[in-house]
Order: sequence, then structure tokens, then C-alpha cells
Amino acid sequence: MKLTVHVNGASYTREIEPRLLLIHFLRDELRLTGSHWGCDTSNCGACVVWLDETPVKSCTVLAAMADGHRVRTVEGLAHNGELDPVQQGFAQCHGLQCGFCTPGMMLTARWLLDRNPDPSAAEIREALSGQTCRCTGYENIVRSVIWASKHSASKPSVSKPSASGPTPSGPSASKHSASKHSASGHGTRGRPSAGDDDAAPGVPG
Ligand code: FES
Ligand code: FES
Repeated sequence: MKLTVHVNGASYTREIEPRLLLIHFLRDELRLTGSHWGCDTSNCGACVVWLDETPVKSCTVLAAMADGHRVRTVEGLAHNGELDPVQQGFAQCHGLQCGFCTPGMMLTARWLLDRNPDPSAAEIREALSGQTCRCTGYENIVRSVIWASKHSASKPSVSKPSASGPTPSGPSASKHSASKHSASGHGTRGRPSAGDDDAAPGVPG
């Protein structure tokens, strides 16, 4: 099948097998290797990317479901050569060791801060509860997100849906299809959320 996906502001059209997972499409077809492939079972969150405005675990999303949609990966976090405050926060507060979990952590953190600019530590932990770090005790990850929340003045403009942007199409275009694979805002580690995509973090759906 042929699909067109809008990734970090650029459009890509490819012929793919219908069974191809989004994580493999991003890494193997587009060579965007910032998104990592870990457990492959929707548990670790290393593969988190945004599908439209929702963080999803791309190891459990078919690439075909992204047809006509926008995808944002860690490569799309920086803006005009300036790191996103979340990226700066992870650097400032030593929020990573090996870095395997970091791209997914940062994308979920950005999602959280876009909706809750001044989250509590508990809210940050809840938002990241579906993602596993094998290295740290999470303390510095939480500090990194708090750092980012306190440095919003240097925050680059965040990509939002635009009237001229790609229009979701096809049966996979519903908000519900994305929310079933949401990586954030759920209280059960690694499990898809059935909640509202825009629900405040810390309030399981
Ligand atoms: Fe997707 Fe672990 S690789 S959740
Ligand atoms: Fe190594 Fe998180 S920094 S898995």
C-alpha cells in the first residue's frame, strides 16, 4: 500500500507492507533513528512519538494508521536550531544516562508541558508512568521536566495543527484510534489509555 505521512513538517510518501509498524517505518524507511525500539510490547515507551497531538507507542501502531497524519519525533523537538527547553532540561539536570529512553521521555514531557505548563512532580511522574528508564531512579528525569517548566521563556514555538496542515483522512483518522495507543496520562504502566487525549495528566481516563 502507498501512504503519505507528515513527519516533523515534511511529507513522505512510501510504498509499504500493510503490516509495517510505525516505529520501523520511522527508523528503517525514513532513517529517523532517534525513536528507539525496545520491548516491542507496548511496555517500555522507548518508541513514543506524537501521532498528531497525542504521544503513542509506535511499536503498537501500524504505519498505515499514520497515513495522512502528522508525526513528531525527537528529531522534530528543536526549533530553528534551538533545543526545546525539555531537551535543555535533560542536559542541565542529567536526565539521562544511556539515553535509550530519553527521546520518548522528552516527547511525553513536551506533551505534558503544552497542556500543563507548571506540573507538580506527581503530575510529571503520572504522565511518564508508561515509560521505563533502565538506568535512573527517575529523580533527575522529573527534575529535568521541572527545569523545562521554569524556562518557558526560551521555549520555541510548538508545532500545532494548522489550517493549512495535512488533513487526516481514512478510517484511521479518528481521535479514538490514536487514543487507544496513547502513551501518556494513564495510570497503568505501559498500557494503552482509553481516556481523553486532552485529559489532564494525573487523571487516568
Ligand atoms: Fe514500544 Fe517498548 S518498544 S513500548
Ligand atoms: Fe538509560 Fe533511561 S537513560 S534507559
